[in-house]
Amino acid sequence: MYDFKPDTALDTGERYRQLCQAADGLTAGEPDAVANMANVAALLWEFLPNLNWAGFYRVGPSKSGGDELVLGPFVGRPACIRIPLGQGVCGTAVSTGETQLIEDVHAFPGHIACDAASQSELVVPIFRDGAVTAVIDLDSPEKARFTSQDAAGLEQLAGLLAGRI
Ligand code: SME
Repeated sequence: MYDFKPDTALDTGERYRQLCQAADGLTAGEPDAVANMANVAALLWEFLPNLNWAGFYRVGPSKSGGDELVLGPFVGRPACIRIPLGQGVCGTAVSTGETQLIEDVHAFPGHIACDAASQSELVVPIFRDGAVTAVIDLDSPEKARFTSQDAAGLEQLAGLLAGRI
């Protein structure tokens, strides 16, 4: 049995350190990308308070040619399946290659609402061989839920997962 339940009193840095350690332990040596994303989505949900969605979108072929984001494993309400690159918070993270820390999703032009409860969002790109292959997406029902410490912690997780999803 895996028992990664974090202490509620952890500070943010220590919370991400333990989350990354658990993610490393669960994904090391496992070649199946879906299994690894599913377990990490569950860890994000367990470790990070006040979320309403945590999961992955992967860059994949669109039905009409070219690439787009395709929904991956997640915890939360059913979500948009396909997102064009450059659109929404997730598509912007891919087209810019930069973390998107959005304090108020209603103020983000083109935000794609999958759950009306979402108020703030953090999206971090995952790179492989210099190209974005996926994003980690966190949504919260609280405005300004995410800080630069969350962004740094999630970027560390993204680096760890680069070759594993
Ligand atoms: N809000 C995202 C869409 C994905 S959901 O949050 C799960 C966006 O604007 O890209």
